[in-house]
Amino acid sequence: MNKAIKKEEILNNMTLKEKIGQMTQVAPYFFISDSEATVYGALRNLNINKEQVYTIGSILGIGGPSEMIKLQESYLKNATHELPLMFMADVIHGYKTIFPVPLALASSFNPEMARIAGKISAKEAYSSGIHVVFSPMCDLSRDPRWGRVVEGFGEDVFLTGEMAKAMVEGFTNKGKLGKDAVACCIKHFAGYGASEAGRDYNTVDLSRLSLYRDYLPAYKKALEGGADFVMTSFNTLDGVPATINTFLLRKILKEKWQSKAIVISDYDSLTQIIDHGAAENQKEAALKGIKAGLDIEMASSVYMNHLTELIEEGTVKESEIDEIVGKIIDFKIKIGLFDNPYSGANQASESEICLSEEHMDLAKEAALESVVLLENNGVLPLKKKQSIALIGPFAKSRKLIGPWSWHGRNDLHKTLEETLKDNLVFVSEKASYGEYTDEEIKQIKEADVLIMALGEDESLSGEAHSRSNIHLPNDQEGFYQNFRKIIDKVVVLVFGGRPLILSEFKDVDAMMMCWFLGSSSSEAIKELLYGEANPSGKLPMSFPRNIGQIPIYYNHFNTGRPFDPASKNMYLSKYLDVANTPLYPFGYGLSYSNFTYENLSISKDSLKANETLKVSVKVKNDSDLSGKEVIQLYIRDYVAEIVRPVKELKKIRKIHFLPQETKIIDFELNYDDLAYFDHEGKLKLESGKIGIFVGGSSDKTLNKDFYFIK
Ligand code: BGC
Repeated sequence: MNKAIKKEEILNNMTLKEKIGQMTQVAPYFFISDSEATVYGALRNLNINKEQVYTIGSILGIGGPSEMIKLQESYLKNATHELPLMFMADVIHGYKTIFPVPLALASSFNPEMARIAGKISAKEAYSSGIHVVFSPMCDLSRDPRWGRVVEGFGEDVFLTGEMAKAMVEGFTNKGKLGKDAVACCIKHFAGYGASEAGRDYNTVDLSRLSLYRDYLPAYKKALEGGADFVMTSFNTLDGVPATINTFLLRKILKEKWQSKAIVISDYDSLTQIIDHGAAENQKEAALKGIKAGLDIEMASSVYMNHLTELIEEGTVKESEIDEIVGKIIDFKIKIGLFDNPYSGANQASESEICLSEEHMDLAKEAALESVVLLENNGVLPLKKKQSIALIGPFAKSRKLIGPWSWHGRNDLHKTLEETLKDNLVFVSEKASYGEYTDEEIKQIKEADVLIMALGEDESLSGEAHSRSNIHLPNDQEGFYQNFRKIIDKVVVLVFGGRPLILSEFKDVDAMMMCWFLGSSSSEAIKELLYGEANPSGKLPMSFPRNIGQIPIYYNHFNTGRPFDPASKNMYLSKYLDVANTPLYPFGYGLSYSNFTYENLSISKDSLKANETLKVSVKVKNDSDLSGKEVIQLYIRDYVAEIVRPVKELKKIRKIHFLPQETKIIDFELNYDDLAYFDHEGKLKLESGKIGIFVGGSSDKTLNKDFYFIK
């Protein structure tokens, strides 16, 4: 098919109303009354008539392949134009086979896991007729109170970018859309993760420096991975809602990054600019959206109901609309919609593909890499003959797959009780010490080990689920302490969608951060408990000691008065009541193996801009168990015109080691790895000393310095 001619032909045959319809996205319920998809809020008040409905360009969420086919058929029958609908949906960590939540996937420190999650989710979503997924979320966050940290890849720009890019490549088959692949709409552009005080939808006030350095690069990397769409965020930036923010959408996205991505609003975010106080009414919202570079509005009808008038008045030109609709047509051609409007949608193949053994195995593999072992004094791995008492709110719970699993079904998967049953001598989900009878406590004491399955429910994280108190709910700390006092061996499993305050659990024998691990959660946890698999996850976010430390992150600045425990000076940057360090730092995570690091070496003591620095380190698995280790390379630019963080992650390698195996791990660093963004977003680097830090956690590294010579 000749793309250019086809596009022009299609455009020329469309009325203005039909073109504007392409710039609108609604939920399926507008078309069929028995849609399984749920619709919230403002959508009910869209004020759209039947004629307008059949001009709409895309659909948000769909109940399955049969519904997609039915809807597309009815749409094409009723429409006066020839453009099929495009289907977009939230596929965050799996379609039906559910992978670990993104924050857990990030703990694998293994972009390959994100790639696999993307690839398998794409295959399943494709069989359901989905063309574009609203994923991945590239918003980094330093505030665990924000409920959406569960959907992101943590606090670090490098890790977030690597994971997001790999996931996009997995979903899109490296941009080669076709069978079993779906396009990506990355979100939320930009800075959404910096919501003040971690409250969702709250104000964002970011310096340009932080924006360029910390927040923007991950979106850019994800675009390089082959994303075709960008979703704007709900927040303001510099006082302008992101959805109508010309600086973000035109200057950064289109001009600086030369991105051709189609820009879509978040749910109803174009009308929300009225509540923000950035537009008087819907007509002004429509004008501001167009001028800023917003191509499609989701779940609002501002364009649909006001663009014609704006064109008639001459404030908006029809050519501006043609340009946007041309991009949408191009995309519809690219995914083959005109050749087959039903693409992969097929009820029989959906049933066969989804939740297949292969997919479940891969979800388990990802789960195994996503758990972070926080404490272990040798009680883990468990021995096959040990008897177990299992108690706590997650002992029998099926709610383990995590939030944002739209088609995921908790009832299909096993509980901890079901997987650990062979060795269980006692199980209860009662979560308060006082509820246990003397007889029950006696039985618990008789077991060789007590496993307490604790945490926050899956409904306590995710969109609009921020918490100001991130301790474990319902005094699970007291629950634990009471048992700790009387039981010899206690293992705590923590479920949750964010870093939680775990200071009260420091005296535990072993503790695992299990997050929410998806479809194979319990099986993966069992394998890890018994040492059939060796924990290899690392924390993608710092775990604070208390709530007052938030925001706390590893790549902070040194300040002019850095804290020094040896100093007698009391005027240093510190708290009176808590250490500056987190309870568990970024990059931290134990293994049943013991990895030692030595001989950090660099290829040069001074480096020029066009040269490559080779870094190598000797890592030994000083144990009789094979296992994987995440080798992390950080840098520090000691002196610069704009001060640099005390550490910045630049490279990761996840490597498998046999028992007692030693390996030399090599890295290469170039100018782009070392340079930093200035206030205008330009990369720069002055001559001076730079530190290289390599280790298995951000707080335990070997160091070597070199000079960069301009
Ligand atoms: C969320 C987006 C999501 C969209 C569509 C919004 O409320 O912020 O992340 O993709 O809804 O479901």
